[in-house]
Amino acid sequence: MRYDKFLAGRANWIKGSALADVMKKAAELKAQGRELISLSAGDPDPNLIPREVLGELAKEILAEVPASVMYTPASGIPELREEISKFLEKYEGYRVSPDDVIITVGGTGALDLLGRVLIDPGDAVITENPSYINTLLAFEQLGAKVYGVPVDGEGMRTDILEEKLRELRAKGVKVKFIYTIPTGQNPIGVTMSEERRKRLLELASEYDLLIVEDSAYNFMRYEGEATPLKAMDKEGRVVVAGTLSKVLGTGFRVGWIIAQGEIRQKVLMEKSPIDFCAPTISQYIALEYLRRGYFEEYHLRQGLPGYREKRDAMLKALEENLPEAEFTKPIAGMFVMLFLPEGADGMAFAEELMEKKGVVVVPGKPFYTDESGRNAIRLNFSRPSKEEIREGIKRLAELYREKF
Ligand SMILES: Cc1ncc(COP(=O)(O)O)c(C=O)c1O
Repeated sequence: MRYDKFLAGRANWIKGSALADVMKKAAELKAQGRELISLSAGDPDPNLIPREVLGELAKEILAEVPASVMYTPASGIPELREEISKFLEKYEGYRVSPDDVIITVGGTGALDLLGRVLIDPGDAVITENPSYINTLLAFEQLGAKVYGVPVDGEGMRTDILEEKLRELRAKGVKVKFIYTIPTGQNPIGVTMSEERRKRLLELASEYDLLIVEDSAYNFMRYEGEATPLKAMDKEGRVVVAGTLSKVLGTGFRVGWIIAQGEIRQKVLMEKSPIDFCAPTISQYIALEYLRRGYFEEYHLRQGLPGYREKRDAMLKALEENLPEAEFTKPIAGMFVMLFLPEGADGMAFAEELMEKKGVVVVPGKPFYTDESGRNAIRLNFSRPSKEEIREGIKRLAELYREKF
């Protein structure tokens, strides 16, 4: 039986992710008994998450809150919306009404919902180039035409953004919104400078655009400044897709949208038939985690310093083993982007590295919106141990030397 005749026309826009291919290959090797060092995932470290404390919380909630195993409002449980609104005021520096907080199935659910209410097939959307692969796929699956704007050490090149906006306007192309991950960008590990943040907002105002701010790594900042765009937004142009995934754990699936007016209303209507509600038990755990000050106690005081050490271990290992190579130096997030020599094939390198040296990395190419980034390799430092980071980079450097 062939099923293609049953598929929606829209299904033609659905493409697989090269990331999934890497993970599949790694899983196959593991099943064959190979020991692999993974510098690939976008996960936090399970040992830097207070799992025992969360276990106690889960037990307490399940015993004492009958609603925790039930459907709850599509917008999220009211207590958590209230708590997130306080949390954002305290740690992100902006005030939003709990009514404008919608609890989603992670940042992924937030971005999908925003795409659904904002994108018509053929709409132009601007992103950083490179950008987070799942968002690119989600927007493309909705029929968006994605235009990438290059990134340098200070984030999105707002001068090139301006040129692009002018050029698209001259061609009669209406841009809907700009999607950005200003802090600890995935995959390139760069944080947008304060100047560029201001300029981005000015351009959004001048061209009457929305900004979708993905704040996934805002709570993974090791040093420096990174004022959330939403905190600088005087005109209500910034819609936020946030998540607790990188803090609480990616398995909880608790994220949020901060949106007002018609966007908020339509997101709510769209949401219920899709997921009913974000996982209720996770929402209660997130609520108590924030309420009891565990974010401060466990994440800020213990987690963050641990991630900073790992970031430092990776940069040191790269400086010692590959001093001639170009790589980014993140002040936030979970990733370093390494650039192989010009013309090198990052996909082939990643495959060979996994097979010959047992180290899993993610090729950068699939994160790019054009043909650039062929020589880029994304390295994760949050999940592996410091020993794995040192050993992984040593082996990566060996292959680099063998090939270039
Ligand atoms: C930039 C960015 N946004 C969103 C997400 C999705 O996170 P969540 O687990 O909350 O769906 C990720 C996950 O890696 C990410 O890197």
